[in-house]
Amino acid sequence: METEPLPSILAPHQKARWKTNQDGIWTLDGSRVDEVPARSILTTLWDQPRWLEAYHLYDQRGSDLFEQICQLAEYYLTRTENSILEAQAAAIIAAAPVECIVELGAGYSKKTIHLLTEQLRQRDKGIFAPIDVSESGLLASREAVARDFPRLEFHGLHARYEDGFTSIEQAVPTLFVFLGSTVGNFNHSDFPRFFRALSEAMGPKDYLLLGADRIKDTTLLEQAYNDSQGLTAQFILNVFCHINNLLGSNFDLAKMRYHARFNSEWQQIEMYAIAEQRHRVSFPTVETSFEWQKDEKILVEISRKFDPQRLQEQLRFFDLLPIEHFTDANQWFSVLLFRKQG
Ligand code: TRP
Repeated sequence: METEPLPSILAPHQKARWKTNQDGIWTLDGSRVDEVPARSILTTLWDQPRWLEAYHLYDQRGSDLFEQICQLAEYYLTRTENSILEAQAAAIIAAAPVECIVELGAGYSKKTIHLLTEQLRQRDKGIFAPIDVSESGLLASREAVARDFPRLEFHGLHARYEDGFTSIEQAVPTLFVFLGSTVGNFNHSDFPRFFRALSEAMGPKDYLLLGADRIKDTTLLEQAYNDSQGLTAQFILNVFCHINNLLGSNFDLAKMRYHARFNSEWQQIEMYAIAEQRHRVSFPTVETSFEWQKDEKILVEISRKFDPQRLQEQLRFFDLLPIEHFTDANQWFSVLLFRKQG
């Protein structure tokens, strides 16, 4: 379906790179969103300590498990952030006079609905452009927007965050939305790379809305990542099933356990898989293997926790000026609004 006009939110010099095969969903021509995961998995597994990049967690089962985690009583993040957005959406949209809302990840969450509702209430029009590596998520999002917000223009960008946001037209005033404290899952090299790229991609009338989980009582934090139903353990260990499926390896879930702890020096939750007995893990397609020692940990995921004032100061160095700070009564979670320094 090449007849569909290219959306105005794509920068002119970027337009040639994007193709559509389904109404309203755009993909970078020639790019594969799921580019060679094997290389990423093998290189980080041979690091010391061994670790894995977060995006491998989100196969179909991983995404389903994560949805369930968001409903858990112990996992306070989702409902706390949602309550802040529900209470503050009017103020956020009033403070950010935009035509377009670009959401990084999470195609269509309950949380975003508050912002879309306010955009239409205050401006009677708008564009919603989620960027997501999950095509099924984008399709669901497209259907939901058509149903609940027929006055919104929808363009789903099927891409990694960076490929998506670098293609957005800078002249269209845009609110970039990055929720769920996903920023906390970046390590210390991904973090500056992400903000440098995002800030460079932003135009002079653009805003960023960032959800960040805060430093708090260690027990509360550790319970959020080690729930009593064991869903988080299943979610984290599922990455090894996914890797076995991708690479034909033989990670054995019966020989490992899940462990989460708050590292107070680094102010991050660390989520590990620990070998309960020594065993060899083989990767037949690349004819290699390693011995996973008893008690040796593989770092599967981190979730950094933030001091919002310090995060605001830090993001100034990326030309992102703090405009507003919204939080909940317990001060457990922060939603921060920034403006790009023009
Ligand atoms: N960004 C969220 C967080 O840090 C979601 C998340 C990412 C998560 N990886 C996770 C939640 C692993 C539980 C377990 O909390």
